[in-house]
Amino acid sequence: MKFFIDTADLSQIKEANELGILDGVTTNPSLMAKVGIKGTEAVMQHYKTICEMVDGDISAEVISTDFDGIVEEGKKLAAIHPNIVVKVPMIKDGIKALKWFSDNGIKTNCTLVFSAGQAILAAKAGATYVSPFIGRIDDSCWDGMELISQIANIYSLQGFETEILAASIRTPLHIVQAAEAGAHVCTCPLSSITGLLKHPLTDIGLAQFLEDAKKFQ
Ligand code: E4P
Repeated sequence: MKFFIDTADLSQIKEANELGILDGVTTNPSLMAKVGIKGTEAVMQHYKTICEMVDGDISAEVISTDFDGIVEEGKKLAAIHPNIVVKVPMIKDGIKALKWFSDNGIKTNCTLVFSAGQAILAAKAGATYVSPFIGRIDDSCWDGMELISQIANIYSLQGFETEILAASIRTPLHIVQAAEAGAHVCTCPLSSITGLLKHPLTDIGLAQFLEDAKKFQ
């Protein structure tokens, strides 16, 4: 399973990348706003900086909602760097645009996916990635992980090549469960990635080993 970090914060991207296990980055307009990026030039430059930091797929989201606008914006984003993946919302014109990008060799990430039906449409349109939002489904008292399993089962039965990108990850347990459910990629906050490190028996065991090491030094 691939690991993406879900942030536009360069210091967090750097920290995750230095672990040596990072395969890419996802951003969205809310994450860009959170780090204070303003204006088209600054947005483009920020994506370029991320692409230069991480050797992997970098999702950059369009804000247009009509076919022509999505295609124009997506072409500009894709021109920034070969690793840019154009992130397109799951709407009617988004599906048309996904097909256009797919036919024109531009990688895509279909975002805001909350049902298996939407995931089928994204795959039919040739999306590179489909992003079911696990955490937001859980927040609505539905089972986000069940959706990952359902999509994984359908894609496997139907031979769809679109990769399942588990998004809206909130905890380290989400990562483990998404891996079990068949997600190809998890995009996670840094805290969920580093949370995977934690186990009290590791800390206790290491303290004991370091204590015992003093006996033969
Ligand atoms: C990533 O591609 C998504 O935009 C992101 O994971 C959404 O996460 P959130 O539900 O925590 O905002």
